[in-house]
Amino acid sequence: MSDTRHILVTSALPYANGPIHLGHLVEYIQTDIWVRFQKTQEHSCYYVCADDAHGTPIMLKAEQEGLHPEALIAKIARAHQADFAGFLIGFDNYYSTHSKENQYFANRIYTRLRDGGHIQRKTIEQSYDPEKQMFLPDRYIRGECPRCGAADQYGDNCETCGATYTPMELKNPKSAVSGATPITKSSEHFFVDLSGLQAMLKDWLNSGAVQEAMVRKLNEWFEAGLMPWDISRDAPYFGFEIPDAPGKYFYVWLDAPIGYMASFKHFCDREGVDFDAYWGMDSTYELYHFIGKDIISFHALFWPAMLHGASFRKPSGIFAHGFLTVGGEKMSKSRGTFITAESYLKHLNPEYLRYYFAAKLGSGVDDIDLNLEDFLLRVNADLVGKVVNIASRCAGFISKNFHGQLAKQLHDAQLFEAFVAAGEPIAEAYAAREYSKAMRDIMALADQANQYIDTHKPWVIAKQSGQEALLQAVCTQGLNLFRVLLGYLQPVLPKMAYAVEAFLQAPLTWRPEPLLGCFISPYQPLMTRIERPQIDAMLADSLPPATRQPAQPQPVAPAPAAQAAVIDYEVFAQVDLRIARIVAAQAVEGADKLLQLTLDIGEANTRNVFAGIKPAYPDPAQLEGRLTLMVANLAPRKMRFGISEGMVLAASAGGSDIFILSPDTGAQPGMRVK
Ligand code: MSP
Ligand code: ZN
Repeated sequence: MSDTRHILVTSALPYANGPIHLGHLVEYIQTDIWVRFQKTQEHSCYYVCADDAHGTPIMLKAEQEGLHPEALIAKIARAHQADFAGFLIGFDNYYSTHSKENQYFANRIYTRLRDGGHIQRKTIEQSYDPEKQMFLPDRYIRGECPRCGAADQYGDNCETCGATYTPMELKNPKSAVSGATPITKSSEHFFVDLSGLQAMLKDWLNSGAVQEAMVRKLNEWFEAGLMPWDISRDAPYFGFEIPDAPGKYFYVWLDAPIGYMASFKHFCDREGVDFDAYWGMDSTYELYHFIGKDIISFHALFWPAMLHGASFRKPSGIFAHGFLTVGGEKMSKSRGTFITAESYLKHLNPEYLRYYFAAKLGSGVDDIDLNLEDFLLRVNADLVGKVVNIASRCAGFISKNFHGQLAKQLHDAQLFEAFVAAGEPIAEAYAAREYSKAMRDIMALADQANQYIDTHKPWVIAKQSGQEALLQAVCTQGLNLFRVLLGYLQPVLPKMAYAVEAFLQAPLTWRPEPLLGCFISPYQPLMTRIERPQIDAMLADSLPPATRQPAQPQPVAPAPAAQAAVIDYEVFAQVDLRIARIVAAQAVEGADKLLQLTLDIGEANTRNVFAGIKPAYPDPAQLEGRLTLMVANLAPRKMRFGISEGMVLAASAGGSDIFILSPDTGAQPGMRVK
């Protein structure tokens, strides 16, 4: 192993005025995977973040909610951290920009910039709300477009004709805060003069710290010559007062990136880590910022300028990513595709999304699309159908036939070695943020492992007498291949990795030795399939309240992440469970997974039910005449293909087998089951 690297990683600080949504999560998941990967390589890697708590929108939102800004940001901080924990984002520290450490570093950077001659003062004219007595950011002024006359446009550009302009050019401008007509008022502002830092910035940009595509974009700024950057705002403002200028505040984007330092400082003080070794001008440690491409100028121009001007080190790399679209379109509240972390977690396992994003993410700034159909198929096929399948096909034999003990030798040592060797290119792909390549490589290995099992057919060997040693060796081989794969998937699926360590009673590592002769725990299903109703329920939750359907579809199988609530006997007793005979079963045109079942529930009653069990019964006719268990008093639910009048209960071990009652148990349609 090479020398230990010391790495500090950040994600952009989410604004403390709204919930975490799946777009944000592209970034936090991308970063978390990278950090967890670095940890598997035994580097020292810390990951810090914080809420971005300052600025006009947060001040106004607090006012709207009748809260002090401090109370609002405390409430949002709790919600953000619950969401991040739900998605298994493993921050080493999560803090707030509204903190004493951040104020200290903001002041320190500002005074060093000022003393180094990088701060200018200039009086400028801006729109002012005479009623509310505050200067108005562009987005708080609305009026008619000076070019096409479209009504109700923002102060900086027209959504109808695309014109850009200054708020003072709008016709009939109104303050979005009070409705008053803004006036123009002048005030003295503080600026960072970037002209003296321009050459340094160009060098740094061309040093490889920033992706090519972003450098090209930033070159547009240089062509015009870097303008001084306005870093002050007048009261009323929620932020830090500028030390030598009462009534003036640091603009939120001045203290926001300083929040990275502040969060790390807070961590260092708690953990006894040397802050200066990371941030000193001559630091040899690595510093990386993961961000969205929309905030590149703040991170690749203003931030390194501030750091350099104040004698701190500059970042080793800025890793920008693209934007998330849902179904090919920008997330939209009215279409129900503005999906919050919270509503996702109510219905689905976080590791599904972590895997899906990993399978789509590269090192570039292309947008990535969440197509929910593709999401379901891909996660089910790859994680459940390929990866988990390897363990579930081998584990039972080891438990049942060998008291949980693995063989003392591998059946195919060469294949195992090949799996371990494949870890090198997979590690390179992770390190380069080419996660989609890493996932492709891992799934190709999973295919190989399944082929190995298909070839050796443990279920056939198990029936042959005298072949116990072979059966044990083949299953031991399968489980060892599985263990190598889970080691590679650990950065993406930390919770499953943890469950696998408990199952195999051994740690996962990148370059493992085979596990031989030891005992493993009984196998527990590691992941269930995504069912369409879970997705439907999440989308229904994401619609604005007024457009929601009254009856929410319920998930068929609760995700393992979201533990089902405990219900008492009274609630359970309300469930009408009946034996039903499947009198007809047919495929549903246009649905991959659904069968339409006609169920006889006795007393000449039949029910029409749609069940997602077609993958297990590609030939539906084989179900006719068989018995099943159904929930007979479930509210009928309108589905795309018709009305479903109940739900059948079936059990699946995670593979393609679904258990339906056999016809000869003496049970009769209509029998109640409690
Ligand atoms: N507060 C600033 C960042 C300050 S960093 C010193 C901010 N906050 S944000 O909440 O709007 O965004 C946080 C991060 O999430 C940003 O990197 C942003 O690019 C990213 N994303 C927000 N919406 C996104 C998508 N729809 N898709 C992908 N990333 C998105 O910007
Ligand atoms: Zn216009």
